[in-house]
Amino acid sequence: MNRRVIPIKELIQKALEARKFSYVPYSGYTVGAALLTEEGKIYTGCNIENAAYGPTNCAERTAFFKAVSEGERSFKTIAICGGKKDKMPESYAYPCGVCRQVMKEFCKDDFRIIVVKSLEEYEVYTLAELLPHGFGGETIA
Ligand code: THU
Repeated sequence: MNRRVIPIKELIQKALEARKFSYVPYSGYTVGAALLTEEGKIYTGCNIENAAYGPTNCAERTAFFKAVSEGERSFKTIAICGGKKDKMPESYAYPCGVCRQVMKEFCKDDFRIIVVKSLEEYEVYTLAELLPHGFGGETIA
């Protein structure tokens, strides 16, 4: 097991920075995410909206799909922040249900989810806390 300390401040900084790439012509709400692998690599993501709404991709899933598409399968922590475009977050952006389910696919119950307002203000949860009794591959194995 990798016992390296979680670089919380770096993750928060990267999640905040990732928001600047958000494509949000419809909601004006930008979300940034920074996903830490077990090996210590960080993948960032932003939300990408679409005129047909349904194809919109959340920041968390952008980060996961970038990482998984490059061969990553083991994850430790994700930092997430969201708020009005060009403003600091005013409240915590908890991951949507679809993103929690994607986390469930690749992460254990102790995967850490950090919701962020600023470098100093954040809350830390486990995946099990945000997705109790989730449906995963082990259920149908
Ligand atoms: N959004 C995310 O990026 N992550 C979430 O977990 C919830 C919602 C995005 C989708 C959309 O672009 C905007 O926030 C407003 O719903």
